[in-house]
Amino acid sequence: MSHASSGPPEYSSKELSAKTWPDLARLFEKPEIGDAWWCWCTFHHVSSFSTPEHKPARTRAERAGKNRRNKESLVKNDRAHGVIVYANGEPVGWCQYGRREDLPRLDHSRNYQSLSPKDKNEKLWRITCFVVDKNYRRSGVASTALKAALESIRIKGGGLVEAIPVSKTDQGPGYMYTGTVSMFEKAGFKIVGPFGTGRTSTVVMRRVI
Ligand SMILES: CC(C)(COP(=O)(O)OP(=O)(O)OC[C@H]1O[C@@H](n2cnc3c(N)ncnc32)[C@H](O)[C@@H]1OP(=O)(O)O)[C@@H](O)C(=O)NCCC(=O)NCCS
Repeated sequence: MSHASSGPPEYSSKELSAKTWPDLARLFEKPEIGDAWWCWCTFHHVSSFSTPEHKPARTRAERAGKNRRNKESLVKNDRAHGVIVYANGEPVGWCQYGRREDLPRLDHSRNYQSLSPKDKNEKLWRITCFVVDKNYRRSGVASTALKAALESIRIKGGGLVEAIPVSKTDQGPGYMYTGTVSMFEKAGFKIVGPFGTGRTSTVVMRRVI
């Protein structure tokens, strides 16, 4: 069911924390959440799932349970950050951000090496994932989450912020989980160079906050 008949709802946002973890869990456990149900935005937290401590689970259901437990533990240890967006008190979307140290996956990608910032001492933040309830898509939830995430980064001291959004938006919403180039352009980001050559052509974008 869509909310569209009564016009776009007012959105609010909250920072992910041990206190708001149940809201994030509620969002990811909705049937309308799509592929995020098993990933729990853990992909960017690890350099690779092939290391012994991240041995791949056999089924998606097993992975979902494992990833949920990992995510909860990261939240409780202050290693997972993001912003949850609410419509009338209901969690409807979210955006994950964090320091490079907590979201290291890109550093292990060959395509990223030549684009890595030259100044290794600069504080580097990443915005890696968006997830929006299917009933609320295409009504500004992800854009609201991005704005709120940038504000959180600013409050935490700012620095260089990077993302790898998609430049092709015709492959379906599941392929757009890193956001779109136009969303990031509107938020003041500039393209640094090409990153992924797959179906969606991702690019590295950056701005200083
Ligand atoms: C991609 C996604 C986050 C977009 O969220 P949203 O709230 O619908 O996005 P917004 O309404 O804020 O729109 C942001 C931009 O994306 C564009 N957009 C959103 N959905 C789109 C679609 N299906 N096709 C093309 N463009 C789309 C909008 O037009 C807008 O562009 P603009 O900035 O040029 O106006 C959402 O579709 C989603 O959750 N997809 C699934 C992601 C997923 O599977 N995540 C887990 C991976 S493990």
